Amino acid sequence: MTGRAEGVPTAAASAPDQRRGPTYRALVVDHGDLSGAHLDALRVLFDGEYRATHGDWDPDRPYGYSPADVHTMLFHGSMLVGHVGFQRRRVAVGTTEVCVAGTGGVLVHPARRGEGAGRRVMSRAQETMRLDDRIEFGYLGCRPDVVSFYESTGWSRVHATERHVSMVTPGGTTASSDGPILIFDASGSRWPQGEIDLRGTPW
Ligand SMILES: CC(C)(COP(=O)(O)OP(=O)(O)OC[C@H]1O[C@@H](n2cnc3c(N)ncnc32)[C@H](O)[C@@H]1OP(=O)(O)O)[C@@H](O)C(=O)NCCC(=O)NCCS
Repeated sequence: MTGRAEGVPTAAASAPDQRRGPTYRALVVDHGDLSGAHLDALRVLFDGEYRATHGDWDPDRPYGYSPADVHTMLFHGSMLVGHVGFQRRRVAVGTTEVCVAGTGGVLVHPARRGEGAGRRVMSRAQETMRLDDRIEFGYLGCRPDVVSFYESTGWSRVHATERHVSMVTPGGTTASSDGPILIFDASGSRWPQGEIDLRGTPW
């Protein structure tokens, strides 16, 4: 089980969300505390989206990306309809270091898109980041076509070269300044200038 900062919602943290539209329930669970039923539901969600193109979902190495150590899951009734994962890591930026919540596995079931589920599950993940004293920023890379989703949920673009461990070449590193990088300020800090070294594979 992953360690947790004081005051951070535990695996049991769950709250009905009835602000508008269908009733959703968000659940925040440490990776090591995922039940068999959680894993089954996540597998159905991810395989439905990516199995044809990327193969089977592996919770400990999802499509070659780094695994999450905290999962935010959004249920509609008993059905898992959305997920945001993050993993804490100290990364290098320019001449300094920051602790990020490397964010990945952002996915809403196709039948539930466009009705606010993505915003809800992201908002709960961001609340968890803010309550964790160790985390300074959320961090993610994404396709250009989804930048506006992240911008409308509180993320901001940073323009920098990013270096990370290759997902395909063992021992290799990759540097890129093309793909969108977005950060979420979880601590009232300013993102430092300079090249980013993720010190691991991306999320
Ligand atoms: C991206 C995704 C998570 C959005 O979920 P969603 O439930 O449809 O999003 P919401 O209904 O909560 O929309 C929130 C806002 O984001 C915008 N938005 C939603 N999907 C978007 C998309 N694909 N591209 C750009 N903007 C998008 C909405 O217009 C809305 O903005 P507004 O409130 O300012 O009008 C969902 O489309 C998805 O799972 N896509 C496939 C997986 C994927 O691409 N994940 C991202 C990997 S980096």
